[in-house]
Amino acid sequence: MIRIAHISDTHITPDVAYKAYPYDLIVNEINNGPFDLVIHTGDVTNSGLREEYEHAAYALKKIKKPLIVVPGNHDARNVGYELFEHYIGPTTGVYEKGDLVVIWLDSTIPDLSDGRVGGYKFRWLKERLEEYSHKRFKIIAAHHHLVPLPDTGRERNVLFNAGDVLELLLSHDVNLYSCGHKHVPNVYRVEGLVVDNAGCTSCRKTRKGDVNSYNIITIHDDGKIDVRIKRVTGDTVDRSFKLPRQKIFLPKGERLFRIVQVSESKISDRVYFRGRVLENAIRAINEKYKPDLVIHCGDIVDAGIERYYERAMEYYEKVKAEKLVVPGHSDITYLGYDLFQEYFGEPAIIEKGNFVFIPLMTAQYEIPIGVVGRIGQRILAKTLEEYEDRFTVVVMHHNVIPIPRSREVGFLEDGGNVLKILTDREADLVLTGHGGNAVGIKVENTPIVNSGAISWELHRNPFGNSFNVIDIYPDMIAAFEVQATWGSRKLLGLWKIKTSVPWK
Ligand SMILES: [Fe+2]
Ligand SMILES: [Fe+2]
Repeated sequence: MIRIAHISDTHITPDVAYKAYPYDLIVNEINNGPFDLVIHTGDVTNSGLREEYEHAAYALKKIKKPLIVVPGNHDARNVGYELFEHYIGPTTGVYEKGDLVVIWLDSTIPDLSDGRVGGYKFRWLKERLEEYSHKRFKIIAAHHHLVPLPDTGRERNVLFNAGDVLELLLSHDVNLYSCGHKHVPNVYRVEGLVVDNAGCTSCRKTRKGDVNSYNIITIHDDGKIDVRIKRVTGDTVDRSFKLPRQKIFLPKGERLFRIVQVSESKISDRVYFRGRVLENAIRAINEKYKPDLVIHCGDIVDAGIERYYERAMEYYEKVKAEKLVVPGHSDITYLGYDLFQEYFGEPAIIEKGNFVFIPLMTAQYEIPIGVVGRIGQRILAKTLEEYEDRFTVVVMHHNVIPIPRSREVGFLEDGGNVLKILTDREADLVLTGHGGNAVGIKVENTPIVNSGAISWELHRNPFGNSFNVIDIYPDMIAAFEVQATWGSRKLLGLWKIKTSVPWK
């Protein structure tokens, strides 16, 4: 068994932003507790100043256990990253102990709050993951978060390349990603990865009236991981994860529903629009896949003009199945919102037996960033509650999980709260269609599938233009990506589902 104390965001400074009392309280607890290791995930100081580093070096010496310290954006301010190395230690490194390896890295960008694991650093991380692939327990520690966090207001400062990093960690069987930064303690299970966010250990800037806290990670010999959020008030929140190896399983029973998920048709007369690819895909959808519902997750046209909507109608009239079309950001440019309603109608909830499809409007005028908004969030929560006993599919344009090969700058500005609602209320499936790349990731009990571009040349998908086929069985969901030109298939995800839905 290995026990780790995960502290973060101490924001040490000689002025009042820093609270020495909770710091000493937590450090005392750690020194007297059964801990093998302490990980500090950054923002050790408040502004990266020399006097702060002097204070911090002194405060960190109070910790009498092996200690890993990761730099945060505040530490990198004012060229503080150089002082970090002088006063604290290396900004990036590897810690090994028995079956365990902890790889920590500097995700900061000087003088910006955002994070990045770019270029050489990304390559370094990949090489380390290969070098330590034999280790049973792999932990990555960095300052910035990987998936949007609730209660952080405008969701920003995810790693710019969070999609790539998440893909890398998932493909290398990393068990735990520990981070801080947003001063919100939170634990998510993302496929086989536990994403452990520490709150803030000794800074006044807590959110939503919260108090200071730290996380306790226990790795059991049988592979179980416990994460406890421990607040200075003594309150605890416990999560426990059994991490089974990914395995292929076969569905029990017959298929209940088939969805074809499409996005970014971007119908237009621009050279990037590939009409023949779209025609080909529509033929395959009609003749080969014969879905129960076709869902277009946004950007059906490249600009909101009548001529494009007319053409879009011509293409999609040929789809034989019932359709649900939600607008994307390019659909509502210019007169697009009016035209969208005229041609495709305002998206509304569709009920089909036990299945309920809940469209969410996320697009905003003339900006690629989406928003659900506080009222929208409340409606979403209420709707999911209302249909609790059904299989709920939430459909929107903007992604809530980061997309590989894209710059993630908060595509959904309130993605943190939206993801929390979707996972807390256990939406059974979430379909999004932004970013030009297909990916399927399960967060908590909710599989989230993003579709790539079906007929737009400007995409980020090495598989090319594609659409997704999602089959729902009584005990599992299977999501495939289908190459739009050649028809070859790639598995996006195979998720066991536990659902209380009465199927008959
Ligand atoms: Fe911080
Ligand atoms: Fe930070």
